[in-house]
Amino acid sequence: MIARPSSPARIAVFDSGVGGLTVVGAVHAALPWLDIRFLGDTARLPYGTKSASTVVRYAMQASAALVQSEGEEPVSALVVACNTASACALPALRETYPFPVLGVIEPGAQAAVAATRSGHIGVIGTERTVASGAYTEAIADLDPSARVHSLATPLLVSLAEEGWFDHPATEAAVRAYLQPWLAIPAVRDIDTLVLGCTHYPVFKAILHRVIAEITGHDVVLVDSAQAVTRRLRELLPAPAEPRTGRVELLATDAVDRFARVGGLFFPIGDASVQLIDL
Ligand code: DGL
Repeated sequence: MIARPSSPARIAVFDSGVGGLTVVGAVHAALPWLDIRFLGDTARLPYGTKSASTVVRYAMQASAALVQSEGEEPVSALVVACNTASACALPALRETYPFPVLGVIEPGAQAAVAATRSGHIGVIGTERTVASGAYTEAIADLDPSARVHSLATPLLVSLAEEGWFDHPATEAAVRAYLQPWLAIPAVRDIDTLVLGCTHYPVFKAILHRVIAEITGHDVVLVDSAQAVTRRLRELLPAPAEPRTGRVELLATDAVDRFARVGGLFFPIGDASVQLIDL
């Protein structure tokens, strides 16, 4: 029998910006009873072009602000809804907190290994995520025979933050990144592409279209939001009584912009976005 928690579980989720709302959206849709507090560190976005030590410092500060609230039940889990922070800061965060800290890289790697048939897996992400080799390592741990081909596509973060999900400028940027990469013979064999940045799931339609146009075949796009949601479902059993959890949104700068663009990622409605300083 599954032990039911006495009070509804609350999780903390953070990203550098609105991209992490792709994870909030997937978690809220699958586990609607869960209370979620999300922080977008918009004052310091992007993380993906920063050094690893800076990303660790930012991730530690963002997490501390999210999980410490006087008089509240402790969070049940912390979700690092940012590939860059997952690539750099998971060991430090896991050493700091007694509750589970979930990153997006391990679940994404598992989903990619399960999906590939050709054994060639592509990964697109920020410069820091790609330079860290975190996906290559995580995939090799699961399947040493898999070949991982990674490409940094940092401009896509700004295009997502602009809300240009299906826009000619985004399509041009995707083509400019992918055309020369997919011309490399081994890379052309990828049948699975990991969206190694939580800002990228909003580009699924463009990615399918451009990749099919360049290679003549489609690929499976791995969205780690789905994979991390499955992990949370295993970790946090549903309460006995059905309920709708609260979603609280916090940002470190430009809350009006966060609400406007964030609303394209996740239905924010008229919920306010709280400004916090780290
Ligand atoms: N959402 C972040 C990630 O998944 C990238 C954005 C950034 O560069 O800050 O890596």
